[in-house]
Amino acid sequence: MCGIVAYIGDKNPLPIIIEGLQRLEYRGYDSAGIFLSNKSENSTTKVAAKVEDLKLEIEKKPNFKATVGMGHTRWATHGVPNQENAHPHLSNSGDLFIVHNGIIENYDVLKKELIKREYTFYSETDSEVLINLIEETQKQEQVKLGKAVQIALNQVVGAYGIVVFDRKKPDELVVARLGSPLAIGLGKDSFYVGSDATPFLEYTRDVVYLEDSEIAILKKGKPIKVRNISDDIEVDPYIEKLKWNLENIQKGGYDHFMLKEIFEQPQAISNALRGRLLMSENQIQISSLTEHENKFLNARRILIIACGTSWHAGLVGEYLFESFLRVPVEVEYASEFRYRNPIIFPDDVVIPISQSGETADTLAAIKIAKEKGAFIFGICNVVGSSISRETHGGVYTHAGPEIGVASTKAFTTQITVLSLMALKLGELKGVIGKVKFHDYLTELSQVPDKIECFLKNTNNIREIATHYHKSPNCLYLGRGYNFPVALEGALKLKEISYIHAEGYPAAEMKHGPIALIDENMPVVVIATKKGHYDKIVSNIQEIKSRKGKIIAIVTQGDTTVKQLADHVIEIPESSECFSPLFSTLPLQLFSYHIALMRGCNVDQPRNLAKSVTVE
Ligand code: G6P
Repeated sequence: MCGIVAYIGDKNPLPIIIEGLQRLEYRGYDSAGIFLSNKSENSTTKVAAKVEDLKLEIEKKPNFKATVGMGHTRWATHGVPNQENAHPHLSNSGDLFIVHNGIIENYDVLKKELIKREYTFYSETDSEVLINLIEETQKQEQVKLGKAVQIALNQVVGAYGIVVFDRKKPDELVVARLGSPLAIGLGKDSFYVGSDATPFLEYTRDVVYLEDSEIAILKKGKPIKVRNISDDIEVDPYIEKLKWNLENIQKGGYDHFMLKEIFEQPQAISNALRGRLLMSENQIQISSLTEHENKFLNARRILIIACGTSWHAGLVGEYLFESFLRVPVEVEYASEFRYRNPIIFPDDVVIPISQSGETADTLAAIKIAKEKGAFIFGICNVVGSSISRETHGGVYTHAGPEIGVASTKAFTTQITVLSLMALKLGELKGVIGKVKFHDYLTELSQVPDKIECFLKNTNNIREIATHYHKSPNCLYLGRGYNFPVALEGALKLKEISYIHAEGYPAAEMKHGPIALIDENMPVVVIATKKGHYDKIVSNIQEIKSRKGKIIAIVTQGDTTVKQLADHVIEIPESSECFSPLFSTLPLQLFSYHIALMRGCNVDQPRNLAKSVTVE
């Protein structure tokens, strides 16, 4: 987590860095800081608040024309979010500055060594240890900054994305990464650095994504120089062309990114289907899947690994693959999987799912599965992300940038891609007949329009939210394909409104949660027509008998549940396997409205971050 921005060149770095940090606030927003410099002047400003407050603080200071700068927005790991712990951090001599994303795991040992050498520490952070370690290395080895950073990083255990600046070398920035992403924008005689490319979208299209264990020297007016940190070999950097534009990362007239992203789902799903679902040929074409189809067709088992919302999409994937491919599927939390010494067979297929492609636990789980010989096929949103580069093959969801911390369009596009994969493989394996396959394709192709239509009239969801925004708890129930949706609905509510919510398989309600039900408990029940409708109607009766308040998500035209529930939200009719693409929508909007009514920060909920690059 944490967001890093830096700039060196002839432009004023201040607006580039402030605007860039605001774009990266999805990565953390506990505190923020900026360092600006030219050959004779320097200034550092830090606040235990958001980037907007940092901007106000800087405005109070005298202006000077800087030529280089670095900024940071923090998600606290070592030390509470206060001014001292905010970045940039300074070395004891006052010459070296660092912004750091990641965790230095052996910081304690390194710190003790440095204290023995009479270094003083002013913050509780591991980052301050690192910048002093670099300073000490420079002193001991009498080497240039880049080399000192390289030697110091070889002593570090952990993860980092760093930018280092030496006041004595004002034309140079040194950046390095291991486990925490860094993108370098190449301008005319200038360089931009960001935790992703969004801070410099309007300045350059040319970007180098630093690989793990690489260090880059960015000297004003000179070409970028990249080396491998451990084996000290010069690397030829691969320059990519950026595809996202500024419009993709702006609110576009919506009050919040989350709302914009909810309403972008028809387009996002169309993008996920484009070029893959070929209606005229009655085919699904995913080139990387075709390339590796034998791996899937001969798989003993499919293991899906993910975290958070992506894990919920993985659960929907379990239902899809087991139905259409008839292969056993296990869905694992990456954080549990990696520490369990998991049993992996050489004929297992592992599918990591990740919006950001940077989640540290998912990345580590992939590495373990790879070491044990499994074939890894990723599903990611962010093109060129660490996870997408770590896999043997994979497919992008093409949801576009997701900035709201609560994931929305990433979830539905992940399910779209999983549906395409399951249908394609089911057809190849002969589990789905030709006619059924055609019917599914037709239905899938209609999903974006149906969602568009649903989103045109959602006022009732806001109205329902007015009854429940003061409830301290909420229960979500679903069965089959909609059990993961119940989990996702509960997660959305927890994340942005801080209401305690739990998702359960509806039948499990009797084994505990039913004890919670009284006239004050709202229960959201996904009761779509196809699937286990009669069973879920019985569950609704059970809630009603205990006076629970029922908010039911039903198929358009439903009459039975309408008579039992306190509120109903109608969604378009669909096959059970595609129902999560619709049933998720009202739950996203329900959480959104409740959070707004409670005065919560919808796009930046407390304590959360969009990209969890720490373990
Ligand atoms: C964080 C985000 C969630 C996301 C999860 C997994 O917790 O706040 O929205 O679902 O990480 O992230 P990934 O990028 O791997 O999908």
